[in-house]
Amino acid sequence: MPSQLLRTKNLGEILGAAQDSAHSLKRALGPVELTLLGIGAIIGAGIFALVGTAAAGSPPERLGSGPAIMAAFVITAFACALSALCYAEFASVVPISGSAYTYSYFTLGELVAWIIGWDLILEYAVGNIAVAISWSGYMNQLLRGFGIHLPFWMTTNYNAPGLTRDMVESAPHLFGFPIFCNLPAVFIVGLVTTVLVIGIKESSVFNSVMVVIKLVVLLFFIAVGAFYVKPENWVPFAPNGWQPIMTSAAVIFFAYIGFDAISTAAEETRDPQRNLPIAMIVSLAVCTVLYVAVAAVLTGIIPYHLLNVPEPLSLAFSYLKMDWAAGIVAFGAVVATTAVLLVFQLGQPRVFFSMSRDGLLPKWFATVHPRFRTPHVTTILSGVFVAFFAAFMDIAEAANLSSIGTLFAFVLVSGGVIVLRYKQPDLRRPFRTPLVPVIPILGILTCGYLMYSLPWTTWVRFVVWLAVGLVIYFSYSRHHSKLYKRPAGE
Ligand code: ALA
Repeated sequence: MPSQLLRTKNLGEILGAAQDSAHSLKRALGPVELTLLGIGAIIGAGIFALVGTAAAGSPPERLGSGPAIMAAFVITAFACALSALCYAEFASVVPISGSAYTYSYFTLGELVAWIIGWDLILEYAVGNIAVAISWSGYMNQLLRGFGIHLPFWMTTNYNAPGLTRDMVESAPHLFGFPIFCNLPAVFIVGLVTTVLVIGIKESSVFNSVMVVIKLVVLLFFIAVGAFYVKPENWVPFAPNGWQPIMTSAAVIFFAYIGFDAISTAAEETRDPQRNLPIAMIVSLAVCTVLYVAVAAVLTGIIPYHLLNVPEPLSLAFSYLKMDWAAGIVAFGAVVATTAVLLVFQLGQPRVFFSMSRDGLLPKWFATVHPRFRTPHVTTILSGVFVAFFAAFMDIAEAANLSSIGTLFAFVLVSGGVIVLRYKQPDLRRPFRTPLVPVIPILGILTCGYLMYSLPWTTWVRFVVWLAVGLVIYFSYSRHHSKLYKRPAGE
């Protein structure tokens, strides 16, 4: 059994499976579309929503980083860049769908591959739960601007801050329990899922338009806000010292998640060896510059301790009595989070798809729609999962769980680069991570430290999630794996 757990696929086998035409996807994406896909995945709820809580903290338990949130963005970008360099090497060697899951099957063996695949559900599906909740919050704000007030019980959840006893009592009840159900979040997940079932090319055009809009809105925030910056708001720069900066760095890590989602579309990419690394690194660089600028302007306009709200960027303009500008930013946030939903809902089914093709999940997961050529079964399944939890969960819980899962995947991918260099030194690597093993080791340390900085409740959920995954692996996947069914040595 140990040999099975450590057994790896070989590269020809991985690439061959991808060419089986009944189970193969259409290659429609070029470098520009891929970079836009990356930016589409990166800029979303993190910069539009979580940045406020990270800067202000959530008193009394957690202190904020204050204006030093700018430094937190740089620290996190550094950790992501190290991981991006490792992802890029893997993505260029194994340019097929499945992301870190596929890479690790190739290097670290089936058990680790399963753990990563299971872990990626946290990144994509659980991450999207947080994004859908943020979408709902900003959409609700926009609707209020147009005089449309949805009942609070259909736009919030059981843990929402500010929920009063009166509100709980006036919510509709079922068997004596008050009902809170975030319906706009459910609606947007349903819409995005439908677009993705219809086809990747169509969704990619849709994504490109949304990416342009959100870039313009962030640039608008920076350009207009810069005129109202008061440098005295940046002093003291780090009011609560070092530890809150690291906690903020871990919280806003969520804002960077997504560049790796590009690699899940490898099988639908033209010339993936060249285009994947370019797209990951360019999209990460663009977002870092924007984030630091947004953080500087935000904490320069408004005293940081006022920012513990779900819509901090809009609040900054409302604080300046510029409601029209606040409305534009809210619109940008709705568009930005829609784009993130699209890319993550695109990524999740493709991980399931790869796992199913390997026999670790039931075969029907890998069915491709005869007309649309999309993995419609897994797309719909992911949509139902995300919509259900988005209806009831809290945004911070979902975002932190997604971050810890993603950081763990980054740690394993960085480790995988070192293992692969050792096991297969002569493998053709169209993109080579520089300075191995220094870069991967730094990646492991920085991502590990960010994981350590997340709340212990997130750790508990994470460990439970991994334990459930292991039960499924040992009770189902191990026996159904295509590698397992073959005689050893074949
Ligand atoms: N990076 C994505 C966001 O901030 C997950 O919404």
